[in-house]
Order: sequence, then C-alpha cells, then structure tokens
Amino acid sequence: MSLLTIEKLRMVYPNGHQALSDVSLRAERGEIVAVIGRSGAGKSTLLRCIAGLQKPSGGSIVLDGADIIAASEAQLRRLRSRIGFIWQEYNLVDRLPALTNVLTGRLGHNRGLGSLLGHFSREHRAIAVHNLERVGLLDKARQRADQLSGGEKQRVAIARAISQEPTLLLADEPVASLDPELAVQVMDDLARVAREDGVLTLINIHQVELARQFADRVVGIARGLVVYDGPPDGLDDTVLDQVYRFDRPARRVA
Ligand SMILES: Nc1ncnc2c1ncn2[C@@H]1O[C@H](COP(=O)(O)OP(=O)(O)OP(=O)(O)O)[C@@H](O)[C@H]1O
Ligand SMILES: [Mg+2]
Repeated sequence: MSLLTIEKLRMVYPNGHQALSDVSLRAERGEIVAVIGRSGAGKSTLLRCIAGLQKPSGGSIVLDGADIIAASEAQLRRLRSRIGFIWQEYNLVDRLPALTNVLTGRLGHNRGLGSLLGHFSREHRAIAVHNLERVGLLDKARQRADQLSGGEKQRVAIARAISQEPTLLLADEPVASLDPELAVQVMDDLARVAREDGVLTLINIHQVELARQFADRVVGIARGLVVYDGPPDGLDDTVLDQVYRFDRPARRVA
C-alpha cells in the first residue's frame, strides 16, 4: 500500500463551483512531488483536503493506512499532528521567538503535564534547536518572528514543520512571496530536510523551473483534473500546454 492514496477526489464548493473533478494519485515515503497548474486549477483545494482542513464532496484520501475523510474530529487531530503544513505567508506567531515557533511543532508530541504548562522537555528543545540549525538559523533563535525577513520566516516554518516528525509535509506556494534568488535557497532547504528525513512532501508551486530542479515527480492539474503525473524530465512543451493551456500567451504566427 502506498503511503498516500487519493482516489476519485472531488470537491464542489457550496456555491456550486467544482474545484476538483476527479483526482487520483499515489505517493510514497521520501518522494518530493511538485504540484503545478494555473491559478484556480485546484492546487490549494487539493492540499487542504489532504490536510483534513476541508471535507471533499467525494472520493477517498488514505494516509499511512488512516482514512482522512472518514476520521472523527479526535482522530483528525491526531492525524494532523503528523502532517506538516508550510504556508505562503508563513503563519508564525509574530510575538514569539523563532525557537518557540519551532517548538510549537512539538506540541503533538508533548504529552502530560508539560503540555498543560506549555513546558517543553530538554529532548523537545534539542530537536527544535537541531532543526533550526539545519535551516541555518540558529543565530536567530531568540529573535521575534515578526523581526525576521521573509526568507528567515519561511525557514523557521520549515524547521517547525519538520519538528513535527511528520508523515507528510504539505507546502502551498512556499516561495511565492520571496525574490527569485531566495526562492531557490528556501526550496533547497525544504527539499534537503525533507530528503534527509525521508518525508513525503507535496509542494504547490507556480515556477516550473523550481519544480524541475527540486522535485522527483511533478503532478500537473488543470480544471480539477490530473493532466500530467511523471518525472520533471517529461515536462515538455506539449505537457506544459495541457497544464497551462488557458493562460499561456498565444504563439506568434509570423
Ligand atoms: N471557499 C470557496 N468557495 C467557492 N469557490 C472556491 C473556494 N475556494 C476556492 N474556490 C474556487 O475553486 C477553484 C480552485 O481554487 P484553488 O484555491 O484550489 O486554486 P489554486 O490552484 O490553488 O490557485 P492559485 O494558484 O491561484 O493559488 C478556484 O476557481 C476558486 O475560485
Ligand atoms: Mg492556491
């Protein structure tokens, strides 16, 4: 059985808009999968459904043997503690230091009295410090999140997500707010820690070049359907045309 199995996923929003028509895909431990598609294709909808943040209208999502759609609230909470989410706008707690933000990634592992008092054991702290170091930010450990640059914030978010020791990492346009050079560096950090830890990672991304550079596999979505699922090498003009058909400039005819 695959680590993640999605079958016939469908999402119709209450206003009647069908964001996902029929999405099926499987993914394995350690894979880095880029999800590409034009704006409105359904990429964020897909990630939110996988994270259990919204209920799809049909189909199934099974992660590590657990059915995400059928899960009760309590089961979903447990499942979510093993799904790391990286957002375009970081979602850090502004007034807390970088290290404390990373430590919140340990909440799902912090049981007993410690969790009630908001105390983290030496072991939790060691993991958080280690992960901050892995993204090159140990020297900013005490700096408040709102005093960090965009690239630093996203690195903190990566360290927080990986500190969850997640079964699955989901990143929704993680570098869309960064300049091109920084985007490459942050993608490099994300891909590196995910690979080192062997975590299945799904990344929604608009830059095809970054998908080619960092992903093992690319899933192209158009109008709520998977129109490509294969290696980055296979992203030729014909495939890109299918994925981006409606917003690629018309070819100039001489
Ligand atoms: N809550 C909602 N209610 C109604 N329609 C929605 C809702 N959320 C998203 N949609 C619609 O569903 C479609 C898919 O949206 P989604 O956010 O998944 O696209 P996306 O591929 O992530 O786009 P982008 O690249 O711009 O982030 C869009 O047409 C969007 O307008
Ligand atoms: Mg989106």
